[in-house]
Amino acid sequence: MTPSKNVWEAYRRSYGSQYSAIVRAPGRVNIIGEHTDYNGFPVLPIAIDRGITIAFEPTSEPVFEARNMNNCFSTRTFSIEEIAHQYPQGDWGNYLKAALRGLIDAGMISTIAMRGFRGMVHGTIPPSSGLSSSSALIVAFALCTLHANDARFDKRELAEILAKAEKYAGIEGGGMDQAISLLAEKDHALRIDFFPLRTKLVSIPPGWVFIVCDSLVQASKTESSRAAYNRRAVECRLATALLNKSMTAETGVKIEAERLSDLNHEQLGMTYDQYMTFGRLHLGSSSWSLYKIARSLGLDERETEERYCTVTDGSIFTQPEDGYMLFKRFKHVIDEAQRVDDAIKALESGDMKTLGSLMDASHASCRNLYCISSVELDELVIIGKSNGSYGSRLTGAGFGGCTIHLIQEEKSNTFISQVLNAFYTAKRIHAFEQSTGEEFRVDDAVFSCKPEMGAMIEKLDRRGLSSISSVVEGGG
Ligand code: GLA
Repeated sequence: MTPSKNVWEAYRRSYGSQYSAIVRAPGRVNIIGEHTDYNGFPVLPIAIDRGITIAFEPTSEPVFEARNMNNCFSTRTFSIEEIAHQYPQGDWGNYLKAALRGLIDAGMISTIAMRGFRGMVHGTIPPSSGLSSSSALIVAFALCTLHANDARFDKRELAEILAKAEKYAGIEGGGMDQAISLLAEKDHALRIDFFPLRTKLVSIPPGWVFIVCDSLVQASKTESSRAAYNRRAVECRLATALLNKSMTAETGVKIEAERLSDLNHEQLGMTYDQYMTFGRLHLGSSSWSLYKIARSLGLDERETEERYCTVTDGSIFTQPEDGYMLFKRFKHVIDEAQRVDDAIKALESGDMKTLGSLMDASHASCRNLYCISSVELDELVIIGKSNGSYGSRLTGAGFGGCTIHLIQEEKSNTFISQVLNAFYTAKRIHAFEQSTGEEFRVDDAVFSCKPEMGAMIEKLDRRGLSSISSVVEGGG
C-alpha cells in the first residue's frame, strides 16, 4: 500500500507529539471463489493499494484510543475493562474491541500489565464497497495492539484468530479477508484454503490489471446484507446435512461431513455429473421448508434450527419466506470451487482468455444460483464486457459493492473513461450522495489495481520509518 498521505502529520497535530510506528493493512478484491471459504473450498484474492493506515504510540495504561482523519468517524476511547460493552451496531469502535477480544481469547496478549495505544486512522477503501474495509480495520488494530505489547506472532495464526474475532463486531464472514490482508505478496494472487488455513502464491502475469467499479449500492456486512449472507451459510449447512443423510443411505457408510468441501465427489466414487444428479435428486430444484428439511433429517424443527441455523452471533436464522434454496447453492459452491482450480491453471499458463471466461461464468453463477448480484452489478458487468473486458464479475459478498474487470494495462485508461460515461450518470451520483451523505469521488468509484503486499508494521527511528519484519513474522 502506498503511504497514506498525512496520517503522521495528522497524528502530530492531533496529539502534539510524535507517533512511534505505523501500521498498514490492505483491502482486497477476490478474483474468483465467491462464498466458497466458509464451505471449506479455496478463494483467490489479491490485496489492493487501498486500506487502513494507523500512526500510533503505545500507552503505558491499557487504554485504547482511535481518532480518524475522516470526521464521520468520531473518536473512540475505552479502557480494557470496557471491551465487552459494544458501541451501537456498525460503529467503527466495535472493530477495535473485536480485535482485542480475539487476541485475548487466543492468549496472544494478556490482560495483566497490558499496554494500550493511541492512534490516528486513515482509510482509503470506500466504506461498504465490498472491498473489505472492516477486516482491514480489525487487522490494523490487532497489529497496533500486538506491537504495543511486544507480542510475537504468526501471521497465519493471527488471520485465523481475527476471522473468528469478527463475530464480536457483528460481522459474518469466512476467513478470506483477514488472510489476504495479512498474507498477501506483491504481484501475486493468493490461493487460500481453509480448515486449516493454507496458502499458495499464484503469480499474475505482467501487463494485466483488475479494474474495480463501485455499483454505488452499499453492501454493509453489518446491516442490510447480513441476513442475506447468513442465509447462504445456513443453506449450505442444511444442504450438507441432507447430503450426509442420503449418502450414508446410499453407501452404507456413515458420512458426517461438516462442510460441503468434506464431500468430494471423487472420494465418493462419483463423477461430477453423477454428483450433480445425486445432488438434484436429494436437494431438489425447488425451495425447501424447515418442516420438510427436519422431516428428511429425522429431527424436529427446533433441533434442526439449533443445529444448522445458528449464526455466529448465536442467534437463529429463521426460515426465509420463499424457503431454502438448497440445490442452487450447492451447485454454485461446487462449480465455483472447480473454477478456482481452473483459474489458477489458467494464470500459471498465462492464459488470460480462459481466466476471463471463468470470471464471467462465476458472475453468472453468483447471479443465477447464489442470487447475490444486483441490477447495478449486472449492468456494470455488461458494460465491462462490451468495452473490452476479458472477464467481469462481482467481487466479495455481493448484494451491492463492486465489480472487477480483467483488462490489459495499456487499455485501462480508455476502459475507465468508457465505464465512467456509461454507468455513472448524474442521476445515479445524486442518489448515491443523497443516500450516503458522502461526496461522489470518481477515483473511488472506478480504479485500477494490481496485487499488493499484505499488512506491515513500520517503526520510526532516527533514520525514519523502517519495517520490522521480525515482529510481523511467521507463516511460511
Ligand atoms: C465476505 C466474507 C468473506 C467471503 C466473501 C464471499 O467478504 O467476509 O469471508 O465469504 O464475503 O466470498
